[in-house]
Amino acid sequence: MLVTQQPVLRRFWYALAPVTALADGPHPFTLLGERLVLFMGNQGPVALADRCCHRTAQLSKGWVEDGQIVCGYHGWRYDKSGACVCIPQLADNAPIPNGARVPAYRCEEKYGYVWVCLGEPLQGIPDFEEDSSPAYRRIFQFYERWNTSPLRFMENSFDNSHFSFVHKANFGMLNQPQPSSYQLQQTEWGFEAETVVPINNPPAGHRITGTDTPTTTRHLFNRWYLPFVRRFGCTYPDSGVHHIIYNCATPIDDKHIQLVQWLYRNDSEAACSTEELIAWDAPITREDQDILEATDYDACVDTRRRVEFHMVSDKPGLIMRKMLFELLQAHGEEEQFRPAGAAL
Ligand code: FES
Ligand SMILES: [Fe+2]
Repeated sequence: MLVTQQPVLRRFWYALAPVTALADGPHPFTLLGERLVLFMGNQGPVALADRCCHRTAQLSKGWVEDGQIVCGYHGWRYDKSGACVCIPQLADNAPIPNGARVPAYRCEEKYGYVWVCLGEPLQGIPDFEEDSSPAYRRIFQFYERWNTSPLRFMENSFDNSHFSFVHKANFGMLNQPQPSSYQLQQTEWGFEAETVVPINNPPAGHRITGTDTPTTTRHLFNRWYLPFVRRFGCTYPDSGVHHIIYNCATPIDDKHIQLVQWLYRNDSEAACSTEELIAWDAPITREDQDILEATDYDACVDTRRRVEFHMVSDKPGLIMRKMLFELLQAHGEEEQFRPAGAAL
């Protein structure tokens, strides 16, 4: 599936950038192949097309004044609706010409990030229930660009069979390659998936898991939110520590994602500090990134096409594909592929 060729994907919300990134001025971002400029308006973040309607300069090269964006080329100014409200070259009282505007998109701040939907939303921004609970602390774990597609990231997130191999140097058990099975429940917005995964617990991970036994388990209540948000809901049963991750794999274009990761923990900084949590997860994250960047970004959604081999035991991957396939069909679209033989 080539994400830029599937218009229905424009009807979902994606996390684009930390809201703090707008403090220094306009911020360019490419979403589903569309160049946007984000900036802080008077009532919250704003997303406009990053192309001045005068002579096409990128508005992200300009600056923000009174919650409006000023083009850096000739100073045309735009409000949050995308309407041009000032053309400095016009004589006094001359009206702004009709049609002097740029496209504006739905834009909201949530969980410390700027979220954008390019079309009429089919669903709201997913609810991160821990975010409003005093029992949890929120950690902005990372925000980075990966050379892969969002479906590759999502399927990997529910793939219990890669732990033994990709993460064998960390928590993966190379001598136990049979993946734990999931209890799956399809929902309106994706699915819920429960599983118990045995893991190695090397000394470096003891403060993460809250236990010092050589092995432990992860009791996972995971969720997938159509199309590219997931929850990793881990309880370490021995310690009662909750390690809850949310990811948004924001599609930049067909080959790249901006991966956002939030972490919620129900323990204290003294029990396990933010620095320790980030340092522990960094090599694990690199392992996933390395292998995903070595796959074909053009992940197949229609399982009838023998482009990839799908195991029947990979229930999350199959349901994910089925729901995406139905979504594309419901909106009258065919799955679009890269032409055969085209370079990765
Ligand atoms: S190109 Fe933007 S003001 Fe001229
Ligand atoms: Fe992984």
